[in-house]
Amino acid sequence: MNKKKLRELVADRFQDYPFIVVSNREPYIHSWAGEKINYSRPASGLVRALDPVMQACGGLWVAQASGDADADVVDEESKISVPPDDPRYTLKRVWLTKAEEEGYYDGFCNQALWPLCHVVYVKPRFDERHWNTYKGVNQKFADAVCTEIGDKSAFVFIQDYHLTLLAKKIKECCPNVLTAQFWHIPWPDYEVFRICPWKAEILDGLLANDLLGFHTLYDCNNFLWTVDRTLECKIERERYAIVRGGSSTLVYPFPISVDFKRISSQARGNGVAREMKRLRHQYNLRQEFIGVGIDRIDYIKGIPERLKAIDLFLNKNPQYEGRFTFVQAGEASRMRVDEYKKLNEEIEELAEDINWRHHIGRWRPIVRLREHAVPVTLIALHRLAKFCIVSSLHDGMNLVAKEFVSSRVDEDGVLILSRFTGAARELTEALLVNPYSADALADAIYEAVNMPQEEQQRRMSALRAVVKENNIYSWAGNIVSEITKLMSPGG
Ligand code: F6P
Repeated sequence: MNKKKLRELVADRFQDYPFIVVSNREPYIHSWAGEKINYSRPASGLVRALDPVMQACGGLWVAQASGDADADVVDEESKISVPPDDPRYTLKRVWLTKAEEEGYYDGFCNQALWPLCHVVYVKPRFDERHWNTYKGVNQKFADAVCTEIGDKSAFVFIQDYHLTLLAKKIKECCPNVLTAQFWHIPWPDYEVFRICPWKAEILDGLLANDLLGFHTLYDCNNFLWTVDRTLECKIERERYAIVRGGSSTLVYPFPISVDFKRISSQARGNGVAREMKRLRHQYNLRQEFIGVGIDRIDYIKGIPERLKAIDLFLNKNPQYEGRFTFVQAGEASRMRVDEYKKLNEEIEELAEDINWRHHIGRWRPIVRLREHAVPVTLIALHRLAKFCIVSSLHDGMNLVAKEFVSSRVDEDGVLILSRFTGAARELTEALLVNPYSADALADAIYEAVNMPQEEQQRRMSALRAVVKENNIYSWAGNIVSEITKLMSPGG
């Protein structure tokens, strides 16, 4: 599947159905810079994956406003055409108050559901006020969507754990709507999920969808099991369907991906070559071996574990001192939540300590790149690297792994990948590691820097073939094909 085929598929199947995507995170953020308004793209895998799909298909994307100039650029319906430089679809912004953001996003989303689903031993916080705000915000999103639809037919594609109650609320006022929801994070085992005081309401909300997508079959099975143990319903395991009150929800795996072709062709361009030069110069990246890690700063990403492994690698192999630099790029996120503040401090202190212990003259083993990295910078970093480390302690998919592979048009470079990512199920030619083991991670770094060229190329070309085949357009195409099987003829 490619961009053109997806566009044709959507145009053909959704003739009478407007295509509406809903997510918490918006794809373009407008901010004031002095007297000027600039726009930026958030550090979000969801946005990186869905923006190309929307650019290919057109439609409406409803999301929370997040920039201080967002209100200054929209029309009276809170809409703006995006991408701002080359409009292809419409973004409709939903405005939340500070209290709503605190209770819904900082609170229930990121202090309850996020740790609950990732199981990296951060205790979820269940606060009834957060839950009530979360319900109210889901209603606000539903109102924004329903105003667009009225009594028409439509296909609404809902994203992620922020909006578990949305499908139900939309269908209460717009019964002619088909909805699919994609869950971008892992779905845990029933034993984990059962501690949520509002588990039945959440499952009830999700089951209002006609189709529910997860990254892996493992997540689908966990979900079926959770529903089976929590609600009265019939689970039809052969067709992965849950039947309840006369309607059914299909539960299928759709491993999300990236725009392989666009990244590969950008990686071949002069812009990336110039950016590689700038990075080498600005960060003094002239050593024999460069490693990279690119993550939104989050405790699920295993960043301290990675830094400790680099320390161990240098302790075990002092011959690499001065010959090796690891670049850790990535922006802070969710900084109003305590765990994230603490994590940022921990990473800062660890990097300083490791650099202090190993530095020789001007050389430091760890370089932090804190600038907001645009796609050309990310691809340049991938191209500079001998290896990329993705050491998530648990991750639904992890698109950095797939972006690294897509960038390596030279078919060189080694991907060190945590076994606990969805990506590890597809990218089996990576060096798969358990990030909880510093020794295993340090040994994988040693293996990466010593891997013969032919083996690197054999592995990288196999990895590229996987991502090329299962790209973001195949992901969207598979979801569209499944949902259109459920449409009644004529809309
Ligand atoms: O991976 C889960 C997820 O919610 C993505 O959907 C999103 O890309 C990422 O986390 C970023 O989170 P946030 O939107 O909270 O910055």
